[in-house]
Amino acid sequence: MGNREKPDRIVLQHSHVIDPYSLEEAIGVGAYSAMAKIVEEGMSPEDVIEIVKASGLRGRGGAGFPTGLKWSFTAKDDQVYVICNADEGEPGTFKDRLILEGDPHRLIEGMMIAAYAVGATVGFVYVRGEYALSIERMTAAVESARKAGLLGKGILGSNFSFDIEVKRGAGAYVCGEETSLIESIEGKRGYPRLKPPYPGAMGLWDKPTVVNNVETLANVPPIINEGADWFRGYGTETCPGTKVFTLLGHVEKPGLTEAPMGTTLQELIDRYGGGVKGGKAFKAALVGGAAGAFICGDYLNTPLDFDSLQEFSAVLGSGAILVLNEDASIVDLLDGILSFFKHESCGQCVPCRAGNTALRALSKKVRAGEGTLADLDKMIEIAETMQAMSYCPLGQSLILPVGSALTRFRAEFEARLRTSAS
Ligand SMILES: Cc1cc2nc3c(=O)[nH]c(=O)nc-3n(C[C@H](O)[C@H](O)[C@H](O)COP(=O)(O)O)c2cc1C
Ligand code: SF4
Repeated sequence: MGNREKPDRIVLQHSHVIDPYSLEEAIGVGAYSAMAKIVEEGMSPEDVIEIVKASGLRGRGGAGFPTGLKWSFTAKDDQVYVICNADEGEPGTFKDRLILEGDPHRLIEGMMIAAYAVGATVGFVYVRGEYALSIERMTAAVESARKAGLLGKGILGSNFSFDIEVKRGAGAYVCGEETSLIESIEGKRGYPRLKPPYPGAMGLWDKPTVVNNVETLANVPPIINEGADWFRGYGTETCPGTKVFTLLGHVEKPGLTEAPMGTTLQELIDRYGGGVKGGKAFKAALVGGAAGAFICGDYLNTPLDFDSLQEFSAVLGSGAILVLNEDASIVDLLDGILSFFKHESCGQCVPCRAGNTALRALSKKVRAGEGTLADLDKMIEIAETMQAMSYCPLGQSLILPVGSALTRFRAEFEARLRTSAS
């Protein structure tokens, strides 16, 4: 275990502390010093990858894949790309926005270091279409960095060249999935590609491409500056560092918080959220966003990290946590989630397209109290089929909310059916 008593922020350290439009202020708090260190100390791309690997940094976009490993797998080519995934379409998540709008130069530097590590010269920031302010501030930061010679040819006197283009997202949840995001940047409809090949081998315009989340990249400059051991001083052994959690729903103080990886749900609710709203009893939490799992009070003391949650079929995802008190209805909430997924299924493959339609129809019926017990079993069966047969993780992951709701809170669904039958 790392030192769990160090709650200091890493990625949000300067967000909304410095003026996001001021390059001078960003440099004043250390922006671009990690890249300068790389150049001054003559660190090779392999050296950079080794530090990131040793830090144990794992992707904050949802899957928790080791970042250094991803960079080391990226193929060598005459053209390599780095993409920062700032699509942030997960309902109840707005952590990346705070970095984009509060500390854009940290992100530029993180992308720059990733590019140096994998031999990329061009980067894209794909920002959620609705995030007008994020797009404006990111664009302004890129322009000021370019003007100051921090982007472009021969960065900081080295022979490394790199530039960034800010892209506006196409407005679909599935465009946050890395391969449909790539399709979208290429100007096509955002349909996910079948993997493999992974983007590291064949990505944007069929060239090797690294796709990393905003929060992941924002962790890179301090890792280079302070070292892998320092980073491992936060969080847990297999999930070092901090996590930016979005804590919403029935808590006294909803919002964003950066806490060490492995903080328990109980600690998060009490210490950062000010307790369950109105002093009511905790009923459940939806952890990991809409495609996450409902967990009940039995798991309040489980560490929130990529590995511990897996033990009971839950995921950390992007760190979105919706707390529900005793008054909340899981039946109604699940129906809302299924309505969202029916709308967001891209329709490319049959299991997800037809499965989402069937799931929503059943859930609507159950919500109205008009279903049967067999409908509940049918919903799990459909979600299991989608998990096995869907083309991309959007369809595959429906089993998490559906399975967890219908097993852990089955009595509530049965009660809804009984109430209406009587
Ligand atoms: C439906 C769907 C939506 C996703 N949305 C996002 C997103 O908004 N932001 C993000 O970083 N990753 C998102 N991902 C995960 C990406 O595909 C990818 O794993 C991630 O950007 C990799 O970055 P990381 O290794 O730094 O986590 C999504 C995945 C799926 C299946
Ligand atoms: S699983 Fe759903 S979102 Fe993914 S490709 Fe198939 S239809 Fe599209």
